[in-house]
Amino acid sequence: MNILLTGGTGYIGSHTAAVLAAANHQVVLYDNLCNSQASVADRLQTITGKTLPLVIGDIRNTLLLTDTLKTHQIEAVIHFAGLKAVGDSVRDPVTYFDNNVAGTLSLLQAMQATAVKTLVFSSSATVYGEPQYLPYDEKHPTRAMNPYGRSKLHIEEILADLATAHADWRIACLRYFNPVGAHESGLIGEDPEGIPNNLMPFVARVASGALPRLTIFGNDYETPDGTGVRDYVHVMDLAEGHLAALESLGKGSAPIRYTNLGTGIGVSVLELVQAFKDASGQDIPSVVSDRRPGDLPAYYADATKAKQELGWSATRTLADMCQSTWHFQVCAKQRAN
Ligand code: NAD
Ligand code: UD1
Repeated sequence: MNILLTGGTGYIGSHTAAVLAAANHQVVLYDNLCNSQASVADRLQTITGKTLPLVIGDIRNTLLLTDTLKTHQIEAVIHFAGLKAVGDSVRDPVTYFDNNVAGTLSLLQAMQATAVKTLVFSSSATVYGEPQYLPYDEKHPTRAMNPYGRSKLHIEEILADLATAHADWRIACLRYFNPVGAHESGLIGEDPEGIPNNLMPFVARVASGALPRLTIFGNDYETPDGTGVRDYVHVMDLAEGHLAALESLGKGSAPIRYTNLGTGIGVSVLELVQAFKDASGQDIPSVVSDRRPGDLPAYYADATKAKQELGWSATRTLADMCQSTWHFQVCAKQRAN
């Protein structure tokens, strides 16, 4: 199948590109490079042995998108492109809604103009908000708690209306939990600019000596060891989830589906730090501070629906996630020197 990946040079997009190319799909990357680099396309060529065309452009450029869909005879789109920093979205909601929501509308216009009706959308567990029960299943009420989360929820609502109006569309909204880890090659992974916001990249930088210590945001939560609990899922498992979602869309009769992609296992900050110490053999100094505003104590997925409907479940362990992150970190440091 000819598949367009918006945000294809980003973290999750690039890993999904590697999985799709290995499954003999023709992948086209589309990215404005606001949070990734064009060199990712070259690395994907090294990994896959195939040339993956990269179109450098913004998803709000409807004409360029339409032209790209036509030129490459695209049959399905996986829509990763978006801004994802929660703090930035609180400071600058207009930019977030413009990029994420208006960008998606532009994509949908281009798809309608070219009769491409199969779409996989990168949603997030953040749409659920404060847990009314755990694990979150897909029937859990949605109530996003910040502009980033609301941008994902608005997009899901737009897609639901589209599916109601046009029953011949096939749309999968994949609600990711906490993607971490990297491709085994060490060539692609998560490499945030500046100081990372998220736990795993922060821990990796402390282990490498690039940052002096981890600050643990609170150890007085009502969790087994007092630190925050999340459902970390290996990015390669997640990438395989996209392939499974695409395949299942071809078979299913519902125009839209919502599916959690997580492991179903909650891991605390202290557990993740210990696993990273074990994987890297490095010390990870840490201090405990106050809770981070807006953080939830614990959340994790009910992964049953993904197994039933997509035939997908995560297979990689926390140790795999830490080892691959560390390998990528070491390789990135070598490349920089
Ligand atoms: P990322 O920033 O690495 O990748 C996103 C890519 O989209 C980047 O390459 C960026 O340059 C591109 N992009 C952004 N705005 C664009 C625009 N207007 N036009 C064209 N390209 C644009 O992020 P990621 O972690 O790979 O996330 C991919 C998607 O998954 C995002 O939509 C994100 O919200 C969602 N998601 C991510 C996580 C996570 O923790 N990483 C969790 C849940 C959902
Ligand atoms: C964050 C985002 C969420 C997004 C998710 C994707 C916020 C408020 N939420 O969630 O919208 O979907 O990333 O992966 O930004 N922690 C520390 N020290 C650190 C960093 C994190 O102790 O330096 C703790 C946090 O308090 C939390 C856990 O580690 O308990 C995981 O944090 P993080 O990786 O930022 O993910 P989320 O909080 O789940």
